[in-house]
Amino acid sequence: MFYEKYISKNKTFIDETWKKLDEKLSRTAVKSRDKIPYTTKDGVHDDHSGNPFMWTNGFWGGLMWIMYEATGNEEYKKTALRSEELMDKAFADVSKLHHDVGFMWHILSGASYRLTGDPESRNRNLIAAMTLASRYKENGGYIRAWNGTWFGRDNDGWTIIDCMMNLPILYWASKELGDDRFAQIAMAHADMTIRDHVRDDGSMNHIVAHDPATGEMIDTLGGQGYAVGSTWSRGASWGLYGFILSYIHTTEKRYLDTAKQIAHYFISNVADTDYLPLVDFRAPEEPVYYDSTAGAIAACGLIEIAKNVPEFEQRPYIAAAVKILKAMEEKFCNWEENEDSILQMGTEMYTRGIHKPIIYGDYFFAEAIAKLRGSEFNPWLK
Ligand code: GLY
Repeated sequence: MFYEKYISKNKTFIDETWKKLDEKLSRTAVKSRDKIPYTTKDGVHDDHSGNPFMWTNGFWGGLMWIMYEATGNEEYKKTALRSEELMDKAFADVSKLHHDVGFMWHILSGASYRLTGDPESRNRNLIAAMTLASRYKENGGYIRAWNGTWFGRDNDGWTIIDCMMNLPILYWASKELGDDRFAQIAMAHADMTIRDHVRDDGSMNHIVAHDPATGEMIDTLGGQGYAVGSTWSRGASWGLYGFILSYIHTTEKRYLDTAKQIAHYFISNVADTDYLPLVDFRAPEEPVYYDSTAGAIAACGLIEIAKNVPEFEQRPYIAAAVKILKAMEEKFCNWEENEDSILQMGTEMYTRGIHKPIIYGDYFFAEAIAKLRGSEFNPWLK
């Protein structure tokens, strides 16, 4: 197979990068056990365990499960379990939960249940799935983003491209309960995303406002990218990976086709910047802002596309994934023993939080390298 041959040609890079990941993360797993990190301050992980509703809180524990599954090192498992425990505070006020519960629990408690069989982890993941399903709006067939107001406007009727990554927890709940209502919601949302978010050239709208009464699309907003009509690269990577995951869960060809359409757009844009993604593919030439997290997420999706297409289609996807990961390893990774984060140069949004380590950068970088090593454990599946 072309895919396997390509992997074996890049084995040295994959093995060396994995060794560095394991060396560094096995230390931070112990050091940051009682934290839920988002970024670092002076090289040290910060701690968001006091804010259990933060959408990024599942990534640290999820990263620990990826490392535990691949190495069997119990220190990773202890930290993942601790993270799950710290997150339980969020269930004390479910009204503060939001559309990102899939990000928060599926790679944490969903992964925990798959790896340990713990019924409490299953229950946490089901609460998250039911919370997400409760956000479904029948008119328009979509899952509402956020609560209250956002970007200064009432956001009733808003959808965001990011939400494609929350759908796997719904597919999982349908299989787990033998009840296809959850998958129906996921597919309706994915179909709305094709209709209202993905543009013909594979670029996309970050935020779409729908009329809450009729469900019709009324407006698009710039969101975390440069402006209305631009393309936020992390949004593109959420779409790319989210659609291939929807394809794997459902085997509906339109989701594979959409994942490929976005992938072609993403690949053609990063090829112009040495495979290091800019924050926004339609921003002005200056200033040059990168977002490493977009590259790590896209690499995961590209690898999954390569594994799910016939042999003669695999090359562009696996080649781009490896090129992105190599470029980021060379330019953006920090392997210093005494600093807690690995992937630098993440960016929250075009106007804020530029060039900083963000926990999901480390998560998706490790997930991608684990996949290239041959791991079949994908926390977003099953
Ligand atoms: N889901 C929000 C973000 O990607 O920043």
